[in-house]
Amino acid sequence: MIREANCKDLLIINELVKELDNHQINLKDPFTYYYIYYEDKEIKGFISYAIIYDRCELNYILIKPEYRKQGIASKLMEYIINDCLNHNCYNITLEVNENNKEAISLYSKYGFKKVAVRKNYYGKNNGILMERVLEDK
Ligand SMILES: CC(C)(COP(=O)(O)OP(=O)(O)OC[C@H]1O[C@@H](n2cnc3c(N)ncnc32)[C@H](O)[C@@H]1OP(=O)(O)O)[C@@H](O)C(=O)NCCC(=O)NCCS
Repeated sequence: MIREANCKDLLIINELVKELDNHQINLKDPFTYYYIYYEDKEIKGFISYAIIYDRCELNYILIKPEYRKQGIASKLMEYIINDCLNHNCYNITLEVNENNKEAISLYSKYGFKKVAVRKNYYGKNNGILMERVLEDK
């Protein structure tokens, strides 16, 4: 099931986030939503995104390595898209490392298109800015 993250989940969430960067999640960023995918008494995945007026920015989506390729990220992507539709969002944007093939494939599957390149955003690697427009608004 997908539920809102709380402070008891922070240790595991921050372990997961370490794979991507050194940011410490504290569940306090304004306008930001934090959800976990929870099953068999275990946190298996995490998503966070910010909704500011009618724009959404996907900040993180991470699945524990041993539970990847089981459709969990897909469930979280469906969750965020529905939530954004409920909030009448115009679009969802995100930034992804050009080398992150798994994530780019996931985003493409959910209708995200490449809209810009941010040169050397990730050190030697470029960042790809992707957008999903929510036509159903
Ligand atoms: C990217 C990530 C979130 C995918 O999670 P997942 O639960 O394994 O994804 P799903 O099982 O729901 O797969 C959905 C789609 O993602 C893509 N995908 C997932 N794993 C992939 C892989 N190893 N190779 C290529 N595409 C992959 C595919 O398009 C897949 O659709 P398909 O099953 O129809 O081929 C996961 O690999 C992860 O946590 N990576 C590390 C963190 C990260 O890079 N997050 C993104 C930046 S914040």
